[in-house]
Formats: sequence, C-alpha cells, structure tokens
Amino acid sequence: MKTLIVYFSWSNNTKTLVENINKQFNYDFVRIEREIPYSDDYDICAYKEAKEEVTKKIHPSIKDLNINVGQYDRILLFFPIWWYTFPMPIAAFIESIKGYKGKVYVFANSYTNDPQYMLNSMNDLKAIDPSIKFIEGLFNKSINEHIAFIKKEEN
Ligand SMILES: Cc1cc2nc3c(=O)[nH]c(=O)nc-3n(C[C@H](O)[C@H](O)[C@H](O)COP(=O)(O)O)c2cc1C
Repeated sequence: MKTLIVYFSWSNNTKTLVENINKQFNYDFVRIEREIPYSDDYDICAYKEAKEEVTKKIHPSIKDLNINVGQYDRILLFFPIWWYTFPMPIAAFIESIKGYKGKVYVFANSYTNDPQYMLNSMNDLKAIDPSIKFIEGLFNKSINEHIAFIKKEEN
C-alpha cells in the first residue's frame, strides 16, 4: 500500500500535526501552496482573501506539486477549516487529480469543534469530483489517534 500525505497549512498547526504523525510512517508528503501566497496578516487572509474565495467558490492557482499521484494507492489529505469548509487551494488540488482511482482520506482541524465542518468538507469535496472515493478520516483529534486510525486503515 503506497501512501501520500498532502496537506495545506497557513499558521502551521496542520504542518506540525502532519510532521508528528509522519514520524511514525515516513510516507512521502507534499504541501499545497497557493501560487500567490496568502497574506501573513490574519485579518487580511481570513476576512479578505480566504472569505472571498470561499464565498465565490474561487479555486486559486496552486504551485506544481511535482508528484504523480497515480502511483499512490491512497492519499491522506490534511487541512484546517476555513470558513466552515476546506481552504480553496484544496479544491484546486482535487481539480488537479480528477479521476484519481485510489482512496482519499480526509483529516481536518479547526479552532472550534463543530462537527458540521467535516460534513461540509466531505460534501464539498464530493461535489468537485463525485468519482473519487473520499473517506471521512478524523476531525480535531490527537496525533496518537491519527496514528492508530491510519494503521488500522492500512489493512
Ligand atoms: C482564513 C481562516 C478561516 C478560518 N475559519 C475557521 C472556521 O470557520 N471555524 C473554525 O473553527 N476555525 C477557523 N479557522 C481556524 C483554523 O481552522 C485553525 O486555527 C487551524 O488549526 C489552523 O491550521 P493551520 O495552522 O494549519 O493553518 C480559520 C482560520 C483561518 C486562517
């Protein structure tokens, strides 16, 4: 089973989570980055850039990941919740792998713990490519819970 971790992170919570989980697995991993970086200023990023993208469903250009996802059996996709769903660079990534035949496990984290966020994310992902097998992973869980979940799903 060949696994790829793909993540997006702005203030590095997701990056830290992924790095700690991956000490256990050593999977290949790539970070999604918007072609034009978001502002470092929270208010500009959250209330201007991100909000406009989410509201208008704009899928921004992302940097080339230089990876052939077709060689992986599964993708572990990690992101923070932005405005009740995934950040729009995640949408751009899914657009770029349309028709992917493996499984995509979804892991989200956010400031508040509203279970609706994961439901929104799953629905919005499936809307981009209904043919991809998206599987709900974990929402706001610990490093160890992620490790246990990922190991269990290997079998
Ligand atoms: C643009 C933006 C929008 C956000 N929207 C939400 C939200 O709707 N609900 C929530 O609980 N947290 C929200 N957050 C908080 C992040 O989901 C949370 O801090 C996350 O851990 C950040 O991950 P990161 O450090 O990997 O970027 C938002 C943060 C940003 C920057």
